[in-house]
Amino acid sequence: MELLMGRRSARFGAVFAVSSLLLFFHVGSSFGQDVGALASSGLPFIVLHGIGDACRNEGLSMFTQLLMDMTGLPGYCIEIGNGVSDSFFMRLDKQADIVCEQVKSIKSLQDGYNMVGLSQGNVIGRAVIEFCDDAPPVNNFVSLGGPHAGIAAVPLCKILVLCKLVDAVIRIGVYSSYVQNNFAPTGYVKIPTDMEGYYQGCLFLPRLNNELPEIRNHTYKNRFSSLNYLALIKFEQDAVLYPADTAWFGFYAPNDFSKVLPAEETDLYKEDWIGLKTLDRAGKVAYLALPGGHLSITEADMLEMVVPYLLPDFQPFTPFSTYR
Ligand SMILES: *[C@@H]1O[C@H](CO)[C@@H](O)[C@H](O)[C@H]1NC(C)=O
Repeated sequence: MELLMGRRSARFGAVFAVSSLLLFFHVGSSFGQDVGALASSGLPFIVLHGIGDACRNEGLSMFTQLLMDMTGLPGYCIEIGNGVSDSFFMRLDKQADIVCEQVKSIKSLQDGYNMVGLSQGNVIGRAVIEFCDDAPPVNNFVSLGGPHAGIAAVPLCKILVLCKLVDAVIRIGVYSSYVQNNFAPTGYVKIPTDMEGYYQGCLFLPRLNNELPEIRNHTYKNRFSSLNYLALIKFEQDAVLYPADTAWFGFYAPNDFSKVLPAEETDLYKEDWIGLKTLDRAGKVAYLALPGGHLSITEADMLEMVVPYLLPDFQPFTPFSTYR
C-alpha cells in the first residue's frame, strides 16, 4: 500500500507540478545577492501549491528557494495536512481553514505578506483572503495558472489510476454531496451545460466567487478588493485548465462550450461580485500570459512576472507581456 501510494504521489507530482515547473533552472545563478540587498525591508511571501504536490517535493522547494534568492526575502511554502493526498481529498474550504490558521500563527507574516499561488493553490489562497477572519493582510497576490472561474472538465485523466477515479466521479455525479466532500478539485468544476447542478451542488466555488445572490457576502468582496495588486498569469497552452482563460477569470458562456468570455464580459466582473472590477478599474490587475503548458515557467519568466510583485519598491510591471 505504502509503496503504491509513494509511486502514485510521485506521478501525480510529476504531472501537476514537478515536471512542468522550473524546467530551466540553473543552479548557482548569482542574481540573488544583489537584488536581495535592496529588498531587505520587504514583506515575506507564502507559496500555495497545486494538486498532487507537496512542499517537500523537489520542484516546489526549488521554486520557493529560488524566489527567496531572487528577492532576498523570507518565503514560506505553506503545507496543508500531509501534502499530496490531502490536496486531492480534503474539501477546499477545509484546506483554506488550515492555511488561515497557519498564516495567523507565523509571526513574521503579521504585518502583511505577499501570496504566490500555483494552480489549485490559487483558489485556496483566494479563500484565505476572502474567508479568513482576523488574518494578517495580503499585499500582492501573484496567481499562476489558477482555476479562478472554474474548470469545465475534471482535469485529471492523464494517468490510468486517475482515469478510474475520474470515471467514478463522473458516474456518481460531480455535484453529488459525496464527491464534493471527498474530492477537492470538484469544488471548482463548473460544467457550463449544468449550471443548475453547479449552483445547487458545488460546495466551494459558488461561495468563493459570490455567485449565489442569497449567500452573497460583501465582506468577501471588501477583503479581495483590498489587495494592493493582483497579477494573473495564464499559460496559453494550458491543457489542465479548461478553458485556460479561467486563470484570468474568463469562462465559457452559459450553455455554450464554443465560446469563452473574457473576464469583463462575465457577470462576476460586470456586477463586481468579488471586487475584481474594482481592482481592475483602480489599475491594480495585470493580465499576464506565458506561452507554455500548465505551470511551465522559466527562471527568466519568474524574474519578469513574479519577482517584481514581491519586492517592496514594487511598480506595476507590465511592458511586453500584458494582454492589453
Ligand atoms: C460574511 O462573512 C463574514 C466573514 O467570514 C462573516 O463574519 C459574516 O457573518 C458573513 N455574513 C453573512 C451575512 O453571512
